[in-house]
Amino acid sequence: MTLAGRHVLVTAGPTHEPIDPVRYLANRSSGKQGFAIAAALAALGARVTLVAGPVTLPTPEGVDRIDVETALEMAAAVEAALPVDVAAMVAAVADWRVEGSAQKIKKGGETPVLRLVENPDILATLARSAQRPTLLIGFAAETERVLEHASAKRERKAVDWIVANDVSGDVMGGAANTVHLITQTGVESWERMPKDAVASRLAERIAAALV
Ligand code: C5P
Repeated sequence: MTLAGRHVLVTAGPTHEPIDPVRYLANRSSGKQGFAIAAALAALGARVTLVAGPVTLPTPEGVDRIDVETALEMAAAVEAALPVDVAAMVAAVADWRVEGSAQKIKKGGETPVLRLVENPDILATLARSAQRPTLLIGFAAETERVLEHASAKRERKAVDWIVANDVSGDVMGGAANTVHLITQTGVESWERMPKDAVASRLAERIAAALV
């Protein structure tokens, strides 16, 4: 199975949303699963563009990496990477950013109140775009009713596949993952395995789907 001649986009990691020039809002995404997927796709011969949020992971061999900090930067980098044949949107994009974050907030006055504004949904935007990839894959980190929530997300976001992972345990930052692959035709539950193995299996599935 090969992905030679295919251009694949992967987003990975968290985003950091500045509160002011020295502080930020973040989440617990390590970027490990997304980086492993980028590596596995490159190993199958794909041209891989990896849009990475702030993580300290090394760039996988043969992968073009674009580093971003915020969701807005990630959205712009994704748009700039198009067209692609496949997109695997693994990043844990912050749902909100902080409004008005230009100056450092000083201690001593009233306790500050953060006002949040919604970030664009990069995946849903790509699903509606004129340059929608042939195969569009979203991820769903769920802590309860994993399959039900993830299947609903597949339809709501108009994506082809959802990889649902149960993050109620120690998945965030850990080396193993338990995922369910939800496609147009059904659900496959994969046994718990290392994130590298999840990545290889997903890359093989992607290659098979494009034949
Ligand atoms: O709705 P939820 O955030 O759980 O959806 C997760 C999926 O949507 C992931 O594939 C994630 O990369 C993508 N997403 C995105 N832009 C956002 C929020 C989520 O691309 N602002």
